[in-house]
Amino acid sequence: MKRLLFSAFALAICATVSAQPVMSYEEAEAKANEIIKTLTLEEKLSMTQGHNRFFFPGVPEKGLPYIYTTDASMGVKNKQKMHNANEIKLAERTTQFPAFIMLAATFNPNLAYKYGHAVGEEARMAGAGVILGPGMNIYRNARCGRNFEYLGEDPHLAASIIYDYVTGMQSTGTLACAKHFLCNQTEFYRRRSNSIVDERAIMEIYTPAFKAAIDAGVATVMTAYNQLNGEWTGQSKYVITDLLRGTLGFKGMVMSDWNSIYDWKDVILSGQNLDMPGEDAFYIKKKPADLVAEGVVTEKDIENMIRPTIATCIRWGLYDRYNSGKQYDKALEANLPAHLEVSYQTAAEGTVLLKNNGILPLAPSTKLLVIGKWLDSVPHGGGAARVTGYNHVTLMMTLTESFGGNVSFVEKPTAERLKEADVVLCVTGTFDSESTERPFEMNKKDEALVRLAVENNPNTIVLVHSGSAINMTAWADKCAALLYGWYPGQNGQKAIRDIIIGKINPSGKLPMTIERNFADSPAANSVPVGFDLAKAKGNPNEKAFHPWTYDIHYDESVLVGYRWYEKKEIKTLFPFGYGLSYTSFALNKAKIVNKGKVKTLTDEKPLTVTIQLTNTGTMAGAEVVQLYIAEKNPTVLRPNKELKAFKKVNVEPGKKTVVTFEVDKKMCSYWCDKNHSWTANRGEYELLIGTSSADIVAVLPFVIQ
Ligand code: BGC
Repeated sequence: MKRLLFSAFALAICATVSAQPVMSYEEAEAKANEIIKTLTLEEKLSMTQGHNRFFFPGVPEKGLPYIYTTDASMGVKNKQKMHNANEIKLAERTTQFPAFIMLAATFNPNLAYKYGHAVGEEARMAGAGVILGPGMNIYRNARCGRNFEYLGEDPHLAASIIYDYVTGMQSTGTLACAKHFLCNQTEFYRRRSNSIVDERAIMEIYTPAFKAAIDAGVATVMTAYNQLNGEWTGQSKYVITDLLRGTLGFKGMVMSDWNSIYDWKDVILSGQNLDMPGEDAFYIKKKPADLVAEGVVTEKDIENMIRPTIATCIRWGLYDRYNSGKQYDKALEANLPAHLEVSYQTAAEGTVLLKNNGILPLAPSTKLLVIGKWLDSVPHGGGAARVTGYNHVTLMMTLTESFGGNVSFVEKPTAERLKEADVVLCVTGTFDSESTERPFEMNKKDEALVRLAVENNPNTIVLVHSGSAINMTAWADKCAALLYGWYPGQNGQKAIRDIIIGKINPSGKLPMTIERNFADSPAANSVPVGFDLAKAKGNPNEKAFHPWTYDIHYDESVLVGYRWYEKKEIKTLFPFGYGLSYTSFALNKAKIVNKGKVKTLTDEKPLTVTIQLTNTGTMAGAEVVQLYIAEKNPTVLRPNKELKAFKKVNVEPGKKTVVTFEVDKKMCSYWCDKNHSWTANRGEYELLIGTSSADIVAVLPFVIQ
């Protein structure tokens, strides 16, 4: 009888397969309740833990198939470590996109939409219902091995990119997963760290990107490995129920990061929905079944825990898709060339030109010597986010195409060889990866090669591939040009080549500050004293499941990134938002167009600001116009200024365009930790408009009354 009842219900939910949610979350919850009524206690308990390492749990005989999830933000990994790999038919090829930090460097949310859409399509192609990304932990610490998976140091920039990425991805019917919630800024003993963070920093710095994902309708969230203020995020009621669902308004399902829970009672009562991958760890003494048997938690508690997983899958039509065998959309393979184009465009717009004495772009007749790393391979980050890709384009391939016999490649040249070249391109950087923290300092051999090059050939261009900042202080002023090329994806070296030859005009901007010394960073003390990262071998964290912790004090509070360096008046090597072009721009005629001598912002009336951008050079190019806001005499700690809006605009040489911004009160507010809400004090403020956090060309006063 039960079975019959269920089939009728399954038919009802099979009716539509759609790229958008097929019903509201509330309707889906009601349907989930009907399903839950048909499940035995054992089946309900089975729904609390993942299946075969990368699947949501299911009860296939009752119409709940296992749903395949795959890493990560930067493409479909397509190579997960499963117990039974036959449960999924791997896609033949998936695109290795540029690193997420490179997407942030584009300052282009429209591109983020296309990128998310492309990854979403590839997930559909590969039979995955859920992508285990995007990652959006704020860059606080240059040494964090996962910065390349995230979007830099500024919450507004990260939120702007995330909103469009999630919208683009989920428009394909692939569910996104906002991770890692929350305050997961280090990979050093990542299962042992306890981030001590105040409420203002949580709200102003660490949650806006998650809030943007929620506003975009993100279907799932992954908690983190670390503790936040003394509680494991994967089993904290404060983190999951109060903050994520309450304050931020998330409706959907939450899963743990892989092997990151310690106490099932806390897990069940925290609002957590799924333990991934769901393999019982030796240190967890009591299992959900024991706790129900002992009356510590009730069957109802288990139902509450699993409902969002079932409701989310129903809401997005995932059960229908899998039950009708439509999870593999092979027809989308035809879109792979278009995805490559998105990947190329991201690398083209995300490469940051940090210095150019005029040497770039290069003429094809230049006798070019290319030295260093990754000459015949594509640099990439490691860990869960690593996507293999196909048809990789290397520098050797692409530069040979343009420079023919004029280019030669020597990993470690002699001083004489360096002197002979017209121009040297020195490729250097770091391999960054999940679960490792890496030194800010370059490794000695790499640094020695850069120095040898700049000392022997004044026409040395340095190309850095890395997931975050490295120490370039000793040689940055000696090179002729400096390009930050991150991890550019499978065809990104083609875009970098096109920048080198001037086919593309660079327009990337730094999504983080590059320090002169790591001691300057607010996160300088995040690794316990006495531990030398340079000597750390392998992966000390991974075997360390025991729940002892060490504290990381986020003492800088809201002063992360440029907010810190500006307040402390610390000189940096390159500021946030900085990046050069082959053309020149002028920004002028900034004005607040609202009436009145004193420009006043009220609840009812936002300010409208305009500024004229002129391309004063000879090449078409794009500039990122950045708008920061500062409160003049704050009564609480406030950064000197904060990015609140930006626009990336293409302008033809000799042409002008007017850039317009709307400024409302929310953009001026801080999180008041006394009344737990956003507050904009009355008083004087300034709008600061420029082309980086350090290059402000217009300051416009206004008041809030
Ligand atoms: C990572 C997650 C990832 C998961 C599955 C974990 O180690 O922290 O970001 O999604 O593994 O691969």
